[in-house]
Amino acid sequence: MRRKLVAGNWKMNGSIAANALLLAEIKAGLGNAACDAAVCVPAPYFAQCQALLSGSAIALGAQDMSAHDAGAYTGEVSASMLLEFSCRYVIVGHSERRAYFGETNELVAQKAVRAIKAGLIPIVCVGETLAQREAGRTDVIVGEQIDAVLSLIAENDLSKIVVAYEPVWAIGTGETATPEMAQEVHAMLRKRLSAKNAQAAMQVKILYGGSMKPENAKELLAMPDIDGGLIGGAALKAMDFLSIIRAA
Ligand code: G3P
Repeated sequence: MRRKLVAGNWKMNGSIAANALLLAEIKAGLGNAACDAAVCVPAPYFAQCQALLSGSAIALGAQDMSAHDAGAYTGEVSASMLLEFSCRYVIVGHSERRAYFGETNELVAQKAVRAIKAGLIPIVCVGETLAQREAGRTDVIVGEQIDAVLSLIAENDLSKIVVAYEPVWAIGTGETATPEMAQEVHAMLRKRLSAKNAQAAMQVKILYGGSMKPENAKELLAMPDIDGGLIGGAALKAMDFLSIIRAA
C-alpha cells in the first residue's frame, strides 16, 4: 500500500506576510493527516518556511534545483543548499520550466539523479500539451519524458523518486483530466517504471497535477495508480489545501 502524498507547488507566489498566514492556517487545521504533505516554496522563503514548519508534519520542498554541484552557475541553487534548509523534496521538470526555460528531458533527468545522490526526493513532472493529446501522442511524449529519467537512474534508486503526471492543458486552467484519463496515463507510467525495476515501480508514488481542487480530489485520488496530488492554485488557500489532504 502506497501512502499518498499531497504537495503544494506555490510557484512564484507568496510574501513573508502571506506565507506566515498560510502556513499558520494549514498547521492549525492539519490534525492527524493520513497522508504525507509538503509545500514547495520559492527559494528566498526557505529559511522562513523551515522555521515555520519545524516540528510539524508538513515537509518542505523546492520547485527546482541545479544539475550542477557548485561553482560558476549564476542564479542557480544547488541540492546541498536545499538540504541546509531541511528540504525533503524538489520538483524537477515542471512543464513551466520545460516551456519557458527550455529544460530538456535530458536536463530534467540529470537533475533527478543529482537530487537522489544528494538525498533529496525528486518529484519528476511529466505531461503532454493539448495539441499533443489531440494528436494522439500522449503516451509517446510522456513516455519519452519518463524514459529519459529511467535511462539515467540506477535500478536501485528507482524507488527514491516521485513522479507527477501534469497534463499541461489542465494546469491553472480549471480543466481537469477525468479520473479515467489520468489513471490511464498513470498506469502507463507505472508499466514503464516496472520495466526498469518491477518491485520499485510498485513503491513509486505517481501524483496527479492540474487543477486538482476539493471538488475533484476525492474521485481522482480513488484511482488505483493515483497516489496523491501536486497542487498549484488550490495550495495557496489553506481551506482548499487541507480539504485535498483530507481527501487523500
Ligand atoms: O505543479 C502544480 C501545477 O502545475 C498544477 O497547478 O494550479 O492547475 O493546480 P494548478
